[in-house]
Amino acid sequence: MVSLRNIVSFERVKWTIALYLLLQLSLVSAVKHHDFKTCDQSGFCKRNRAYADAVSASATQSPYQINPETIVFSQGQFNAIVDKLLTDGTIVKLPLTVSFLSSGLSRITLDEERRQKGEIELRHESKARKERFNQAPDWAIVGGLDFDKSAQLSEQQVSGTTSVQYGADKRKKAIIQHNPFKIVFERDDQVQMIFNDRGFMNLEHWRPKIDQADDDGSEKEDQSTWWEESFGGNTDSKPKGPESLGLDITFSGYEHVYGIPEHTGPLSLRETRGGSDGAFTEPYRLYNTDVFEYELNSPMTLYGAIPFMHAHKQGSTVGVLWLSAAETWVDIVKAKRSGQTKRDTQTHWFSESGILDIFVFLGPKPADLTKAMGDLTGNSQLPAQFSIAYHQCRWNYMSDEEVQEVNAKFDKSAIPVDVIWLDLEYTDDRKYFTWDPDKFQNPIGMHERLDLQHRKTVVLIDPHIKNTHDYSVVQDLKEKGLAVRNKMEQIFEGWCWPGSSHWIDCFSPEGRAWWSSLFKLDYFKGSTLNTYVWNDMNEPSVFNGPEITMPKDNLHHGNWEHRDIHNINGMTFVNATYHALLERNPKKPTRPFVLTRSFYAGSQRLGAMWTGDNLADWSHLKESIPMILSLNIAGFPNSGADVGGFFGTPSPELLTRWFQAGAFYPFFRAHAHLDTRRREPYVAGSPYTEIMTRAIRLRYQLLPAWYTAFHEASITNAPILRPQYYMFPNDEAGFDIDDQFYLASTGLLIKPITMEGATSTDIYIADDEIYYDYFDNVIYSKPGTYRLETPLDRIPVLAQGGHIIPRKDRPRRSSSLMKYDPFTLVVFIGKTGNAGGSLYVDDGETFDYQSGAYIHSEFSFDSDSSTLSSRDITVKGSMTKAYHKAMAEVRIERIVFIGAPSEWQGKTSVTSEQDSKKHESQLTFGESVGGKAAWAVVKDPKITITKDWKISLA
Ligand SMILES: *[C@@H]1O[C@H](CO)[C@@H](O)[C@H](O)[C@H]1NC(C)=O
Repeated sequence: MVSLRNIVSFERVKWTIALYLLLQLSLVSAVKHHDFKTCDQSGFCKRNRAYADAVSASATQSPYQINPETIVFSQGQFNAIVDKLLTDGTIVKLPLTVSFLSSGLSRITLDEERRQKGEIELRHESKARKERFNQAPDWAIVGGLDFDKSAQLSEQQVSGTTSVQYGADKRKKAIIQHNPFKIVFERDDQVQMIFNDRGFMNLEHWRPKIDQADDDGSEKEDQSTWWEESFGGNTDSKPKGPESLGLDITFSGYEHVYGIPEHTGPLSLRETRGGSDGAFTEPYRLYNTDVFEYELNSPMTLYGAIPFMHAHKQGSTVGVLWLSAAETWVDIVKAKRSGQTKRDTQTHWFSESGILDIFVFLGPKPADLTKAMGDLTGNSQLPAQFSIAYHQCRWNYMSDEEVQEVNAKFDKSAIPVDVIWLDLEYTDDRKYFTWDPDKFQNPIGMHERLDLQHRKTVVLIDPHIKNTHDYSVVQDLKEKGLAVRNKMEQIFEGWCWPGSSHWIDCFSPEGRAWWSSLFKLDYFKGSTLNTYVWNDMNEPSVFNGPEITMPKDNLHHGNWEHRDIHNINGMTFVNATYHALLERNPKKPTRPFVLTRSFYAGSQRLGAMWTGDNLADWSHLKESIPMILSLNIAGFPNSGADVGGFFGTPSPELLTRWFQAGAFYPFFRAHAHLDTRRREPYVAGSPYTEIMTRAIRLRYQLLPAWYTAFHEASITNAPILRPQYYMFPNDEAGFDIDDQFYLASTGLLIKPITMEGATSTDIYIADDEIYYDYFDNVIYSKPGTYRLETPLDRIPVLAQGGHIIPRKDRPRRSSSLMKYDPFTLVVFIGKTGNAGGSLYVDDGETFDYQSGAYIHSEFSFDSDSSTLSSRDITVKGSMTKAYHKAMAEVRIERIVFIGAPSEWQGKTSVTSEQDSKKHESQLTFGESVGGKAAWAVVKDPKITITKDWKISLA
């Protein structure tokens, strides 16, 4: 029976969704600012900025001081109590730890002393946990926490401070000032960063609510947002009152800061207060949210958050990881200290709740930061090979016939593709784990047909579960009590794609275990082992919630408030999906592929991300580059933007340029809104289709280099796309450049065209090395800025001399079909005459590589002996032998030398040697003409990839 109330609310749901869709369809591209808070509308943001202003305006001393009697230093850890002195003379005790880690990092935590039971009264009958949230590390951190027991107190101690020397050669020093509390970090006797430099430290201690009227009348803080806060018709009940924490961090002499994705805007972060032209006025915000039609060049929050910042100056990079899961804002100001030539970057961070937990990275190289970040939060997943190839997505392919049609058209146009995606509409009435019985009558058959070309499907599965009576998933969720609860401790209900919905709480281990059970092949009928998953809307997006997300006073597992864990929420859901995919095939697990929209530090372990709902506009194509670079340096390299732009219809030229750029995104997927015209690469016709096809084939040709790059990222978490400052930390001219990048260690320098009608572009070369145009071998032999002609069929790609790049040149329909194809090696000879490179190969799908089932070769070309050689650097394991045997026939069929020495002219044969067998093969030489490099090609040298070999060209 349907009650009147249900009918009413059902109607409201329908209207809300209709309205939401209508808004989506209107192509007015403007973010709805009124849906999202400005700093002034976020109580703790306003309070912390006001606090900073008050401190700056007065000479009063920061009220935080270490009680010297509480100091204990032992085994790499400094412990003390920081006293916060209140104006009425009371003291709030804040336990402080400064830990020195064997990785060379240090870590600062500050908590609030736990009270006696009953001492803290929540303002109303909330079950919210009466502690500061301290479990972010359980989700984000996977290692790197060993203490540096050799850290020692400095021999000379200045009174009122405690100085600790740590790190290799004791080159690092933390000078902890007691009163007022402050920490100065030095490296090589130079100040790098200062905590509480400007005295903005502010930990809002827990307190009982006292009616303002009963107050003693002394100077009053603005308490209007302490106990309750309203925004956009929603009221946050704030049972714990104010509990934010803020701190200023000055990077001394560092003029550039990078990171803290996800934002639009330049890679080098802008000032946010009192800055010069082009500065923002709002702080950078980190509060994962479904920002509809997000705007460019803005510090507004987006879908994900990695609170990791690099500060960079000539020859040195340092940084901080601000490990808060709560809403966080960061103000940035650049200012010159008297007597200095370079400005400092002064940052001010504040989060709504939780403990203070900060990791300090002292570099000195950008790679030291990304490596240490990988040690802490995990390296990028070694992805399944198919997932780094091309993905075709659209909202929506509406039936299994339509999927078949797309599949066939790719084949007919000879365009490679590995994955066809299904957005929302494949489900039966937006119930995940079901299929629309009319449109997708035979999903298994659909998968099987795709499987003929070794293609996969990815299907959308979101965290909102439709609240309806005939759906076993929601029944289970309710019965087992695994959903997020509201402040009244009832199951939280909100609106999303299916209308009225509930949300699985993946903070609960039982919730995650249950989630795994839903992916079993006999439960998720119509899925196969080749069905992978797209987790969207996991910020979580709640259409009728405050700022399109969950109320902050909702409750999660362990009775933590949503406020405490918000930015980690999306990651817990992907974690559950990742493990679900592992467990659906327990005997021989394959590498899960999960795409996420929401993320946090650590999400790189679980899969790929994309930059959400962008727009088919040149400006969005352009801005995708700094966005992806920011993710790469912040530890999440496997990232991409929707090729073509999600909303709107791209012109054929824009689409073509976007494919050319997308072929160099680590995650390469085209996607489109329901309301846009069809735009698969075969639709546009000549010459666009041919040019897009070439871009996609270029991606497939370079897959061995990409896979080797992903492998490197899985070991070091190094960026896959590397910005100029990362490559050339000493070259100041590159610190602001964010429209060109290097592909991992390959030496390939790419400058995507992001301007309509561009017939040329400038590319910047920082180093004194030879560069070759990847396509026609034109030589650039000096540092400087060069103009490249860029007709539509041209992607500006230069190859830095000194690298050897593995390729597979035979076009195929999908990457799995290339498995046993022979390789081509391209040797770009550098200024010294030498070159080097590497190749990593494994089965691309299982975890056998963990038992040594892979091939890892290091190539080098030595000019003195004119020898190109390959050395097996595989770390052997139990499965190495069998794998090498299976791959024993895979050859290198061609070796191309670019920049071949003129002495090779007239040479017609070379000798290769493998397994003590010698072979003569043909060499073709091409002279240098018209500014193009001389080249040489060795044809079929009869060498295979599993064993060492060498080729003599002397
Ligand atoms: C998923 O989360 C659990 C619980 O925190 C953790 O033990 C596990 O390592 C995570 N999985 C991955 C792949 O990060």
